[in-house]
Amino acid sequence: MLCIAHRGASGHEPENTLRAVRRALELGADAVELDVYFVDGELIVFHDATLERTTNGRGRLMRKSLAELRGLDAGKGERIPLLSEVLREVNRRALVNIELKGRNTAKPIAGLIHKFVNEHGWQYSDFIVSSFQRRELRTLAKSEIPLGVLFSRSARRFAKLATELGACAIHTNLRFTNRRLVARAHALGLKVFVYTVNRPRDIARMKSLGVDGVFTDFPERV
Ligand code: G3P
Ligand code: MG
Repeated sequence: MLCIAHRGASGHEPENTLRAVRRALELGADAVELDVYFVDGELIVFHDATLERTTNGRGRLMRKSLAELRGLDAGKGERIPLLSEVLREVNRRALVNIELKGRNTAKPIAGLIHKFVNEHGWQYSDFIVSSFQRRELRTLAKSEIPLGVLFSRSARRFAKLATELGACAIHTNLRFTNRRLVARAHALGLKVFVYTVNRPRDIARMKSLGVDGVFTDFPERV
């Protein structure tokens, strides 16, 4: 079962920062999950649509310039990182799950992944791109880039969508993940990655269901 650090080791460090990514690697995570937006021509790592919860800024992320965003404190003095900075930090020591949060992120993500594969020795299998936004995923359908389809609630109807997209995994909500779903996904050759699994008894339960990985804020618990 893969241990996927959710927004980095976000139980210990400010989420989606270089510090959280470093901590995830120190704690032995197999993969790091990061949320991304595209602002002023750059992919940045950030979760919310607004700034208040995780920075000292105010208002909507997409209303700000890259320079304004980069001037904010994202916790413990960390800046909102560029995705390229995070990839350089990871340096292939873990898989990277890029979750497309913002609109129009699919094309620039594909560009960045191709660049890291062609120029920096990464492989397509070092990445998995996921999203709740079907439109973004469709842009990348059946390309070299591994895709995961995210479900916020029930994933019962995953089969058609995952097949259409050529996805390799479904990313499911802990509350809606059961043995039957896992068996159906596996029968179609799809992996099952489950979020967000922090309680030791849930980690044990997911292991007993045979899921392929869990997203956790506390990698050491997995
Ligand atoms: O990618 C898994 C999980 O991160 C999806 O939900 O809101 O934490 O991005 P969220
Ligand atoms: Mg996410």
